Amino acid sequence: IKAKFLGFSNGLVDVGGRHAMPAHYGLFANKYFNYKFQADDVLVMTFPRSGTTWTQEIVWTMRNQLDLDTAAEVPLDTRVPFLELDSIIPVHIRPPSGDAEGFWRLQPATNPLAKDVYLDQVDALASPRTIKTHLPFSLLSPDLVNSCKVVYVARNPKDVSVSFYHQQRLVKAAEYVGSFHEYIVDFWCQDHLLRAPYWSHLAEGWARRHHPNVLFLFYEDMKEDFLRELGRLNSFLGTGLTESQLQTVARHASFSGMKSRGATNPTAALQEAGSFKKGEAEFIRKGTTGDWTNFFTPDLEEKFQEWMEKWQPASREIPFKYH
Ligand code: A3P
Repeated sequence: IKAKFLGFSNGLVDVGGRHAMPAHYGLFANKYFNYKFQADDVLVMTFPRSGTTWTQEIVWTMRNQLDLDTAAEVPLDTRVPFLELDSIIPVHIRPPSGDAEGFWRLQPATNPLAKDVYLDQVDALASPRTIKTHLPFSLLSPDLVNSCKVVYVARNPKDVSVSFYHQQRLVKAAEYVGSFHEYIVDFWCQDHLLRAPYWSHLAEGWARRHHPNVLFLFYEDMKEDFLRELGRLNSFLGTGLTESQLQTVARHASFSGMKSRGATNPTAALQEAGSFKKGEAEFIRKGTTGDWTNFFTPDLEEKFQEWMEKWQPASREIPFKYH
């Protein structure tokens, strides 16, 4: 195959049939499942490429008195850390030479590589914390929604697939070198990619959308009327911002603003550091709705439709806008 997702030569594991993760996810699974959130935590939860970074920046800014100086200076991943990064980052998880497969089967307690480098950063963050996760509800505490607030952001799967394709080309560890056509047919529609399946993640979020501690947002709605959606966030978070402060947030978190700031768009820095490829689209790439129309051939649309049919009822029930 032409793709080795996230360079994990041990492949991906199917966690409970609900989430494909690197093979070493098992070293951390219990920690995430049992993680105790604080009452004033806000979790930004998404399937990748659905508007996570955008929402992280918005929520952090709203909850930090519009501190735009800090927002411009301190990288977003430091201000809003990524809960399960230890389980996906390849840096400190390389197996030693020899019995790599056996190595991954070691229990967390005895595995020297099950380090909580990033989870420690989440623990160390001062309250009120805003935390990013791509984990679905089912891999976190069953009591999560009674413990803290969750902002769930969803984006239509056609645009997510285009965006994820570009990200998997950019991230060196993902090593995707195939065409868009192959990406959709061989990986996306087979649910053979990191974090898949898309629809079970979405269905879990959608099922909780009426819970008072959950706000379910659509990327397309944020594009359509940003101030309206910021107003919904303002009520949900209880941040009490004025209309003019919401306008400041909207300017600060505009696509061009976020693309131009290194704190939110790490493309250049990570290219220099060697973890992003040069010559690919940036991490903050295009920021539009309906970009899929530039990539999908009729043949791909048909394949995608078959995949959507397979994932009923979620794929019928969740009211995405596709343009
Ligand atoms: P595209 O690749 O379609 O441009 P995530 O943060 O979940 O990985 O999502 C990334 C997607 O959100 C990318 O989509 C990115 O460009 C888009 N995005 C990031 N910041 C944005 C903003 N301020 N406004 C609109 N879209 C934004």
